Amino acid sequence: MVNVSFKKGLLAVGVGAALFTATVSAQDIQAQRLYAQSLAATCANCHGTNGVSAPGATMPVINQLSSSVMYEQLQAFKTGARTGTIMHQLAKGYTDEQLKIIADVLGKKN
Ligand code: HEC
Repeated sequence: MVNVSFKKGLLAVGVGAALFTATVSAQDIQAQRLYAQSLAATCANCHGTNGVSAPGATMPVINQLSSSVMYEQLQAFKTGARTGTIMHQLAKGYTDEQLKIIADVLGKKN
C-alpha cells in the first residue's frame, strides 16, 4: 500500500512538473512572438502595418515579397550590394538573426 501511494505521489509530481513546463514554454512562445512583432513594427512607419503601405504611398509594399526574398534584400542592403536612400543604413542596425525574424514576420506566407 505504501508503495502504491508513493507511486501515485510520484505521478502527481510528474504531471505537475509537465504542466509547469508547458506553462513556461507557452510564455516563452508568447514572449518570442512579442519580440518578433516589435522588431517588425519598426518597419511600419514607412512600409505600413504588416508591410502594407497606405494606398498611393510611394513606399514599396513589402509584404508581397516572400520571407526568403525579403531576407536576401535586407542582407543586400546590409552588405552594400544593394544601394538605396535609407534601407542600406537601416539594415546595418539589425543582426542577421533579427533580419531573419523580421522577414519571417513580414514576408508573404506561401
Ligand atoms: C524611414 C523609412 C523606412 C523604414 C523605417 C524602413 N524602410 Fe524599407 N524601404 C524604404 C525605402 C525608401 C525603400 C526603397 C529603397 C531605398 O531607397 O532605400 C525601402 C525598401 C525596402 C525593401 C525593398 C523592397 C523591394 O521591393 O525590393 C525592403 C525588403 C524593405 N524596405 C524592408 C524593410 C524592413 C524589413 C524594415 C524594418 C526593419 C524597413 N524596410 C524599414 C524606407 C523604409
